Amino acid sequence: MRIFKPYQAFISTTAVNYVGLSEMQYVVRQFTPEDLDAVVKINRACLPENYPPEFFLDHYYDNSQLFWVAEVAGKIVGYIMCRLEYGLSSFERAFTRRVHVISIAVLPPFRRQGIATALMEKVLYRSSETGASEIYLEVRVSNTPAISLYRKLGFTAVKVIKSYYLDGEDAYLMARKLPYP
Ligand SMILES: CC(C)(COP(=O)(O)OP(=O)(O)OC[C@H]1O[C@@H](n2cnc3c(N)ncnc32)[C@H](O)[C@@H]1OP(=O)(O)O)[C@@H](O)C(=O)NCCC(=O)NCCS
Repeated sequence: MRIFKPYQAFISTTAVNYVGLSEMQYVVRQFTPEDLDAVVKINRACLPENYPPEFFLDHYYDNSQLFWVAEVAGKIVGYIMCRLEYGLSSFERAFTRRVHVISIAVLPPFRRQGIATALMEKVLYRSSETGASEIYLEVRVSNTPAISLYRKLGFTAVKVIKSYYLDGEDAYLMARKLPYP
């Protein structure tokens, strides 16, 4: 299904964005607990790495500014969940404030419309506001769509983490410096 191509200029740091120019617009807004069931279902449908509902709620309570959903016609079609951490920099031998992207997914019929990009950009802007100096994530080495998405947003593969996933697949640790852009 082709919905529309969003104009990047419509993506800002305001709380709610109405993005796109056709009648099928999507909204990017902060997660609320009412979204929990939908987000858990998307996570289970799209990723092998699944988490109990409490895990999502904990992230909402601790890092609500880094937990966003995308809605089309009132239906949640994607989400991004992150947390703020203090840890070793991906770029230098120093401890730093950094954002960790824990999970991102968009339902298959709504992919390639820029929704993940809009979710990521929301987090990138919000992460910059927290004063974090970098953002990082793990991605399966075989996950070409996601790797391509992250590269477009300025992430680079910093290292390979051997057998990171339960099935034995390696992960790239990908990171970029903040602020964004
Ligand atoms: C990865 C994922 C979140 C991308 O969502 P999306 O809304 O389709 O992404 P976007 O439309 O914003 O795509 C942005 C860019 O990513 C890349 N990309 C996205 N899907 C791609 C695909 N199937 N093949 C190749 N590149 C792809 C492209 O460079 C794309 O830009 P373009 O459309 O201008 O070519 C989605 O495919 C998904 O939910 N996958 C399953 C869950 C997952 O793998 N999550 C990441 C775990 S680390």
